[in-house]
Amino acid sequence: MFRKLLVVFAVLMLGVTAAAAQSCQDIIDKRQTLMKKSGAAAKIGTEMIKGERPFDLAQVREIYAAFTEDATLMPTLFPDCSKTGNKTTAAPAIWQKMDDFKAAIAKFAADIKAAQDSTKDVDTLKAGFQIIGKNCSNCHQTFRVKSS
Ligand code: HEC
Repeated sequence: MFRKLLVVFAVLMLGVTAAAAQSCQDIIDKRQTLMKKSGAAAKIGTEMIKGERPFDLAQVREIYAAFTEDATLMPTLFPDCSKTGNKTTAAPAIWQKMDDFKAAIAKFAADIKAAQDSTKDVDTLKAGFQIIGKNCSNCHQTFRVKSS
């Protein structure tokens, strides 16, 4: 009876570790999905700026909403257990300089908010995108390893 209990306990423990490891991969997956959404949203905005698709304020709001969701959730998506795995391109610098990383996210969020408030036509969209785009590339340069 006791042996049986031990086995049950061991299986439970295994389940717990597996679940913990799993949840971390999920976190990497989640941040990559959000980043992909930001990438897709940025592409739509860029096409509007280039005149390849008509300016549509409702759609622009969706673009900014995608960026905002990314910026809002990012601070929670880099726990220690997510340093490796899932072909992550997150650089070790994130965990070495977490304060700088969080500051970069906060700036990203503030710049999105400002752009959102000022965008009303293609010109203002372009101005907002130039500022937001710098956030994307600066952060990637410092906090992302080149994916090969
Ligand atoms: C504060 C930092 C930061 C900002 C700002 C940022 N990113 Fe990222 N981005 C990352 C990190 C870190 C990764 C790597 C995530 C991973 O692989 O775990 C990434 C990955 C990506 C990826 C690849 C996703 C994949 O796995 O296929 C795309 C696309 C992307 N970002 C687009 C953008 C765009 C577009 C913007 C601006 C609108 C942006 N990012 C702003 C940090 C940032």
